[in-house]
Amino acid sequence: MLEKTFTEKTFTLEILYHIGTYENSIHFIFDHASKTCAIVDPAWNADLFIQKITDKGYTLTDIWITHWHNDHINAVDEIAEKTGAKITVGVNETRYLRLRHAVTTVDDNDTVTLGDTKATIINTPGHTAGGICYLLDGHLIAGDSLFVYGAGHCAMPGADASVLFHSMQKFKQIADEILLHCGHDYGSQITTTMADQKSGNPFLMIDNEDDFVRYRNHIHDGSRTYPMQPVSQQALDALL
Ligand SMILES: [Fe+2]
Repeated sequence: MLEKTFTEKTFTLEILYHIGTYENSIHFIFDHASKTCAIVDPAWNADLFIQKITDKGYTLTDIWITHWHNDHINAVDEIAEKTGAKITVGVNETRYLRLRHAVTTVDDNDTVTLGDTKATIINTPGHTAGGICYLLDGHLIAGDSLFVYGAGHCAMPGADASVLFHSMQKFKQIADEILLHCGHDYGSQITTTMADQKSGNPFLMIDNEDDFVRYRNHIHDGSRTYPMQPVSQQALDALL
């Protein structure tokens, strides 16, 4: 199992990669002062995650969901059952999300708090109707809205490539030095800065909505292979 750790002033971000059938990345935020933990999109192995948090001497208090797809939430109910953790999800995602436990909803620009650590909610619909990202000090946890040199598909209920285009314009506003963390490790690098994405991720390099929709729905899947590499503007323009 691949693991990465980033230590910041108020929190440590730990990531487990390639978890479960769809190889999800599972993000843990450990708040130093309160010794509490938030887990983002827990799926596939509730006991492994709870044990990891307990072993560090932390208490799991929060489950932060980016979007409703099963490979991101299939351990949420079990973890909520076993820990009593509070579940947070985007307000526009609730009609798609099927959980036994109650959820708290958040909207664009809201802040969620874990001890001394704060995350700003960014609504990034398109891959799903109510998908959100969590922006922490220095780190963006993006779920499947943005991948390293890629972006989420628009093939399931609630998805809309036109809407995703507008979310991409929001990603372009995020500071260059912020590190991007995704729901799956699909890229040629496991972690990059937003600056790397702005200059090499085709979904951030198309300025016209119609071209973007065509690219997302008809051109992209047949023109790229995993792991996703950066593209040049010239190569991208030739495809459009
Ligand atoms: Fe997804």
